[in-house]
Order: sequence, then structure tokens, then C-alpha cells
Amino acid sequence: MKVSVIRSAVIDARIDEVWAALRDFKSHDRWHPAVARSRMENDLDGDVVGGVRRFSLTDGAEFREQLLRLSDREHTFSYCILDSPLPLFDYVATVRLRPVTDGGLTFWDWRSQFRAPDHRAAELEKMVGQKIYEDGFSGLRRFLAEKEGRPQLPGHKEATAALATARDEHLPSKALVVASAGGPEVMTLGDVTVPAPGPRQVRIRQTAIAVNYIDIQHRRGILAGFDLPGTPGVEGVGVIIDVGDQVNGLFPGDRVAYMSRKPGSYAEIRCVNADACIPVPAGVSDIDASTLLKGVTAGLLLSRVFRAAPGATILIQAVAGGLGHLLSQWAKSMGLKVIGTVSTANKAKFSRDRGCDYPIVVADDTSATSEVMRITNGLGVDYWVHSSGARGLNAALACLSRFGHCAVIGDRNGQVMPLDVSVLKQRSLTVSAPVCFDYFDDRSNFLLVHQLFAKIQSRTIIPAIEAFPLSQASKAHSRIENRQTMGAVVLTPGG
Ligand SMILES: NC(=O)c1ccc[n+]([C@@H]2O[C@H](COP(=O)([O-])OP(=O)(O)OC[C@H]3O[C@@H](n4cnc5c(N)ncnc54)[C@H](OP(=O)(O)O)[C@@H]3O)[C@@H](O)[C@H]2O)c1
Repeated sequence: MKVSVIRSAVIDARIDEVWAALRDFKSHDRWHPAVARSRMENDLDGDVVGGVRRFSLTDGAEFREQLLRLSDREHTFSYCILDSPLPLFDYVATVRLRPVTDGGLTFWDWRSQFRAPDHRAAELEKMVGQKIYEDGFSGLRRFLAEKEGRPQLPGHKEATAALATARDEHLPSKALVVASAGGPEVMTLGDVTVPAPGPRQVRIRQTAIAVNYIDIQHRRGILAGFDLPGTPGVEGVGVIIDVGDQVNGLFPGDRVAYMSRKPGSYAEIRCVNADACIPVPAGVSDIDASTLLKGVTAGLLLSRVFRAAPGATILIQAVAGGLGHLLSQWAKSMGLKVIGTVSTANKAKFSRDRGCDYPIVVADDTSATSEVMRITNGLGVDYWVHSSGARGLNAALACLSRFGHCAVIGDRNGQVMPLDVSVLKQRSLTVSAPVCFDYFDDRSNFLLVHQLFAKIQSRTIIPAIEAFPLSQASKAHSRIENRQTMGAVVLTPGG
């Protein structure tokens, strides 16, 4: 059976430091916890393509691997297994590094393909992913920290042992619960206990919980994916209290952000899948990191969904909103001409200060047409980011230029959205309905998160955030639904 293994991690060190450690093919016995001894055959240097490393693991197993390609410019190398006591046939792996932020972090992608006997494929996939790749990430982090004389993160084993007692405990917490669908008042704050994290989970004490429009739709019962009674909220930021079994690369005390299609974040403490957690770099506050979902949605709208060239025109509905104000800043930084709709003059001023060249005050979603045509000299916009569902969709399509694209990212009331494809044929238009969670099932898109954090660190994007104590979530929802907020809204536990 053919097996693919892909793992990635962010290393808290500059790319040149990480690369210096990795590019020497025989150096893994210095940083990888599973490798006992390693040397190059024929006394070759560790960066000679074609060279073979012979190494033994701590359990005594012996391997030979050959370096197939190495590029200092691209920070990548590939290698294959020549001899192994395990049935890892035709094993070829690639390590690739990328700088991810101005703050000097490195994104490490490690992937391989091999064939394995059917009955051992799952076991070998897990072994390679965890014991080789994820333990390798942790090992290199420890190695670099020691080298720099930085305080070391606890090793996984030590941390797990120290936390063994705590992990059995249920911790008291407060959570907002929706018993039956309805208005903001249906959310009530109650006492809950949070069990120890299960396998591949971490337990987090949350510090900032974003409010997203989807939470309102869940609470109102107009969007699937929320079971009653339930706790709303699809993202959070906080500090890891403890980690479950089979968690690699995350430790108690780490500051992380996550987003998850499974609601439940309106709480002081919760368990989430470790795979969804992304370390928050220094220079990004917890409150700013709480723009994760909206920020990466902005990023994917501008890179994965439709790639507008510099100088192209984008129209953003509700440009003064949570997503809107981040998207306008990101679009502006790419050289796009930004038009946005808002409902008040105050919001127009707010968005003008945040990258929107032409805020249009509209009484309803359809009345932007004449203004859009005036601003674009009758050509229409190249890209329309639409969040009002069926309302105004036909007007949006009428405002698109030839080859224009409309991304339908939301609807306010859960109405059906009929689409007449013959309208698209008139000017070779395209329409998409992207959902951010679909893009983040694949960790390779985590790069967008690092781009977002880098833009926040460099102040290319300055989030505007209104904070409410967790206990006042109903008030926060009311203000959003009454269109009184500008920027994003966040809940702060303990506030
Ligand atoms: N597809 C995805 O993956 C994805 C991801 C994130 C967000 N979204 C969607 O993007 C949109 C923005 O999300 P957000 O969380 O940042 O919310 P938001 O834009 O901050 O929502 C509040 C704003 O929406 C505008 N609005 C328009 N019609 C409204 C109505 N009937 N009721 C209340 N507000 C209305 C208001 O701005 P004005 O008063 O200026 O009109 C209001 O200030 C939502 O539709 C959301 O579902 C989709």
C-alpha cells in the first residue's frame, strides 16, 4: 500500500539557524531523540549529494539513507532509504524550510512517500509521523534552545510525568450555554468541569475568544453544525495547561491560537485538538491573535480563492466589520483598489482609515450599484466579496467586470441563494462559496496564519477590536446584530 506522511511545525528560530543544523545530513544524532549514532560513509561531508549516512536508533536498529538533493537557496533536501530493518519500501522524504515572519520563525515541512505491506501501513505511517518527524521537531527545538542558552522547554516525557497528577483532574470552568435557539438572551453563563485532555488534545486556559458572525447564526438556529444545548464559538487564544497522549511539539505554558469547525470556545477552559493549535509569536498580543479566523479568511480570499492583480478593484461588503476591516488592509497592502459598503458615515471614516479607498454608505445592499459604476468608470469591479447572501447577489454580479469573480462568503439570514448561470456567461464571470474551515483541514495552509501574524507584527494590518467580558457575550452579540460595532469583537474570560 502507498503511504504518504506530511508533518509541519514552526520552529522558534531564524531560518539560517535551523538550516545550519539540518543541512548536515549526519547531524541528526545531535538533535533527534531517536538517533543514537550517525556517520557518513567514505568520510564524506554531510552535504555531499549522493552521500550515504549510516545510523542507528536508540533501540539499536540500523539504517542507511542517501542524500538525493540539497539546495541552500531553497532550504530543502531530499533523501531515500537504502537499507532498513522496517518494510519502508521506496521511501523518499523531503525537508523544506520557509521563513514565516519578520519575527524570525521558521516553517518546517517534512514529508515522505513509501510503500508498506497493507497490514503494517497504518502502524508505519504513525511511527514515521510521530517518532521520526514530530519528535524530530521537538528535538531540534531543544537543541537550538540549548545552543542559544535559552531556557529550555520541558521535554515531552518530563512534562508528561510532571503533569500526570494534574491530567487526571477535572478543572472547574465557566462556559456560555445555549439551551434553545433564540436571541442574544438565550446564552447563559454556567459552571462546568473540563476533563483532562484526551489523546491528541490539549487543554487550554483561554484569554481571548473571538466573536464571529457564524456564532450568531448558530445561536439563532439558522446554520447547521451546532447541537443544542451547546456552547458557541469556533476559535480561541490561550495558554496550554496540559497535553494529552500523542501530542508532540506543544507544551504546557505555550501560547496558542486555534480555530475549529466544532463550536465550544465561549468558555474559560476547554480541550481542543492539538493539530488545530498554532503557536502565537512574540509581538502578537492574545487579543490581536484572536483575529485568526477572520484574518486567515482575508488571506485565503486574496490568495487561494481569487488572485487579483495589483491595481485590480475589490469590493468588500461590510468593510467596517470584523472580517471587512482586516480584508481591506490586506488588499490595500497588495496594491488593490478597495471599495467597501458600510451603513453609516462613521463607519465610512473608520474604513477609510483602514485601507478602504472608496467607502460607500448604502441604505441596503442593492443601492451600491450606481456608486460602484461611477467609481470604476462604468467598468465594474474585478472582485466582489459578498456577505449578504441572496440579498443583493444579482446586483453584485451586475457590478462585475469581464472575468470578474464573486466570492459568496456569508448570508445574514440563511436564505436560499438561487444562481442563474446564464448571467455568468454574459461576461465570463465566476462565483465561489469558500468556507475557511475547508482550507484549514490541510496544514499546508497554516502558512497563511504565519503571514497574518507577520502582517500584524509589522503593523501592515492593525486589528481594531472591541472587548467584552465573557459574561457579557449577549451584549456583544446584540451590538453586532444591531450593526453597532466597528472592527472585530472579542470576549475575555475573567474580565
Ligand atoms: N465563508 C467563510 O469562511 C467566512 C469566514 C468568516 C466570515 N464569514 C462571513 O463574513 C461576514 C462577516 O463576518 P464577521 O464575523 O466579520 O461579521 P461582521 O462583518 O463584523 O458583522 C457585523 C457587520 O455586518 C454588517 N451587516 C450587514 N447586514 C447585517 C445584518 N442584517 N445584521 C447585522 N449586521 C449586518 C454590519 O455592517 P454595516 O452596518 O456597515 O452594514 C455589521 O456591523 C459574515 O457574513 C460571515 O458569515 C465567512
